[in-house]
Amino acid sequence: MANKLSILVVGGGGREHAIVKKISESERTGKIYAAPGNGGIAQIAQCVPIKATDVDGVVKFASENKIDLVFVAPDDPLMLGMVDKLNEAGIRAFGPVQNAAIIEGSKVYSKNLMKKYGIPTAAYETFDSSEAAKEYIKKMNTYPTVIKAEGLALGKGVIIAQNYDEAIEAVTSIMEDKAFGDAGGRVVIEEFLKGREVTVLAFTDGKTICPMVSSQDHKRAFDGDKGLNTGGMGSYSPSPVYTPEIAQRCMNEIFKPTVEAMEKEGRVFKGVIYFGLMLTEKGPYVIEYNARFGDPETQVVLPRLKTDFLDIIDAVIDGNLDKLNIEWDNGAAACIVLASGGYPASYEKGYKITGIDAANKHADVFVYHAGTSEKDGEFYTNGGRVLGVTAKADTVAEAVKKAYAAAEEISWDKMFCRHDIGHDA
Ligand code: AMP
Ligand code: GLY
Repeated sequence: MANKLSILVVGGGGREHAIVKKISESERTGKIYAAPGNGGIAQIAQCVPIKATDVDGVVKFASENKIDLVFVAPDDPLMLGMVDKLNEAGIRAFGPVQNAAIIEGSKVYSKNLMKKYGIPTAAYETFDSSEAAKEYIKKMNTYPTVIKAEGLALGKGVIIAQNYDEAIEAVTSIMEDKAFGDAGGRVVIEEFLKGREVTVLAFTDGKTICPMVSSQDHKRAFDGDKGLNTGGMGSYSPSPVYTPEIAQRCMNEIFKPTVEAMEKEGRVFKGVIYFGLMLTEKGPYVIEYNARFGDPETQVVLPRLKTDFLDIIDAVIDGNLDKLNIEWDNGAAACIVLASGGYPASYEKGYKITGIDAANKHADVFVYHAGTSEKDGEFYTNGGRVLGVTAKADTVAEAVKKAYAAAEEISWDKMFCRHDIGHDA
């Protein structure tokens, strides 16, 4: 048998726990490292105290430890060119190079790309001065309207303004008060799309694109889609609105054209593209692209993967995806995120968590750690989103029920979660 691979996963959230777990299930996997990882990841990988954004630190660690493969999971190191730097050092890496990661890094870039190649997306204008943006809002005078900061804003840089005052306030806060820092240098103002949202993650080697099973996250903090936007408070897979007919349209009108467009632009994309879609009366539209797996979508999609994950990773890197048949289970999965009181605004860390083992003992349940630390065998809260309790079942409704039953076992001071994950399924 060939030598087993030593693998480094960059990142330290629930998504990375799901990636590490899936990688650990491959027979070809040897030792796994995570930078920086978290309390849960530490149970299956060796966590090294290197920040996910420390490009030089990751390259140095990978070289010195003869890492065979580095999986770069989060958006920021991808935008910083971590994959390029690893490749320059002769290290195999999974994830798009910097010039391809721009489809997430710049909303202006991705909107212009879609316009140029006729990929359906909301009509839009971009502005680099707040005066011009405000003038346009006055002239357009249609609500709701959608205002987006150009760069990375942890999924929080999007404001849906219901009236003139809200729209003006959004531009002021993004462009003048710099609520999202440098991400707010430019804004995109776009048409509000009506419809059902669905997320499709897809593997691509730059030529072939293989969509994964569909999923849906819940972005708002509280029940009934109230409260601030978060990184995601729960998710489920599959989406009932993503029918085979819609999937075929997405393939022809969105997925393939996107990969071809990137190739034509000299920005060959290898890795995972996250398609945030809106299914409108006129067909599927792209709300956003991300250049990576989503969090917490990954926690309901990867558990359904039957094919060896390392075989897919190799095919993506080597350009052989057309030769691989990727298989998924026919069931469903749901993930309930347990968060720190106060999240997504300010919250405290360091509370002792109880009940994780009891939850993991429930059939078909796995507790992914998003923000935990471990000390003397106990877990403590160490982030806004702390845990993601995933359950698998035949249907989304059953998976949701099982996940909530397991989540009941877990508690800490000021813990909260949404109670209506999957309500729209
Ligand atoms: P984004 O970060 O671009 O995915 O936007 C965050 C959320 O805002 C999306 O998941 C949608 O719910 C909503 N959204 C963004 N753009 C639009 C749009 N053009 N029309 C309606 N809703 C939108
Ligand atoms: N759950 C949304 C994202 O990962 O961007």
